[in-house]
Parts: sequence; structure tokens; C-alpha cells
Amino acid sequence: MNEEAKKNILRKIPYGLYVIGVCAGKAHHAFTGSWLSQCSMKPPRVMLGVRHGTHSLEMIEKARVFSVNFVAKSDRKILEQFFKAPPSDGNRFGDLSFQLKKTNTPILDRSVAYLECEVKEIVNAGDHSVVIGEVIEAEVVREEPTLVMGDTPWHYGG
Ligand SMILES: Cc1cc2nc3c(=O)[nH]c(=O)nc-3n(C[C@H](O)[C@H](O)[C@H](O)COP(=O)(O)O)c2cc1C
Repeated sequence: MNEEAKKNILRKIPYGLYVIGVCAGKAHHAFTGSWLSQCSMKPPRVMLGVRHGTHSLEMIEKARVFSVNFVAKSDRKILEQFFKAPPSDGNRFGDLSFQLKKTNTPILDRSVAYLECEVKEIVNAGDHSVVIGEVIEAEVVREEPTLVMGDTPWHYGG
């Protein structure tokens, strides 16, 4: 196989960009995720690829919930904040305030829309696991176009 072609073609798959909120007891965390897709209509379910060895996967495995925060095109910096290493004080959220609702996972006040999901299945897919979550809460906070991978110079995978 031509490795370069494989990488380029896999990177052509269109992705969104989200802040995925996770929790474990009183601890709250979030990361920038892109490998998200709907995978069932009835019941409404989404699937999310989460890398092995991350705090986020560990927390999802324990708490069996996650949130999906959709952010505005003008809020690219928020996505950056959640893929960079956390600051020395360990506070990944910085100045960003969030609420805890049905699932105890962070819902950013800056989100334009969000989903809350309960984990139904976690499937080992290689160096990531596919987490299948049922949507148990959904809200459009305001109608505004959301940031997608194609709006940025970033890639994940390939
Ligand atoms: C553009 C972009 C998209 C990403 N998408 C994903 C993703 O879909 N799944 C994933 O597990 N990590 C993804 N990441 C990496 C996580 O944001 C990053 O590894 C994060 O720190 C998670 O690790 P932690 O849970 O240990 O903090 C992405 C990174 C970037 C830059």
C-alpha cells in the first residue's frame, strides 16, 4: 500500500470538531474530539473514537457517560485549549465555565449546542476504542454555525 496515499485519503474524510466532556466522581475533564458520527436513529446513538491510554477513555470506561459540546466557528481557541497539554496548575478548563446537568459531564457555557450520552458499548478498534453512546439529552443553545475540521489547518489520523 502507498502510505502517503492512505494518509491523504483518510484525511479527506470530513470531520466535525467537538469538546467531549467526561467525568469520574467529582473530577471533570474534557478533550477535543473529531471522530464522531451518528450510528443509530432509533434509539438515537452516536459513536466516538477515543485513543487508548488517555485519561478521557479511562474516565468514560468508569463513569459510562460523555457530553458533546459544539462550539462556534469564532471559538477555535477553545478547541485548541482542549488538545494541548493542560497548564501546570492542571486546570484544563481555565476561564471557561461549565454546568453539570443530567450526566455530570461538563457542558461549556460557550457551547452553541450539546448532547449528553450514556455509554452502551465500548469496542476495541486498534489504538482507539469506539464508544457507542445513547443520546439522552440535547439542546440547541443558539443558532450559529459550528466549527468543523475543514475550517482549520488541523488533522487527526491519516
Ligand atoms: C484536531 C484534533 C482532533 C482530535 N480528535 C480526537 C479524537 O477524535 N479522539 C481522541 O481520542 N483524541 C483526539 N484528539 C486528541 C485529544 O484531543 C488529546 O489527545 C487529548 O489530550 C486527550 O488526552 P487526555 O484524555 O489524556 O487529556 C484530537 C486532537 C486534535 C488536535
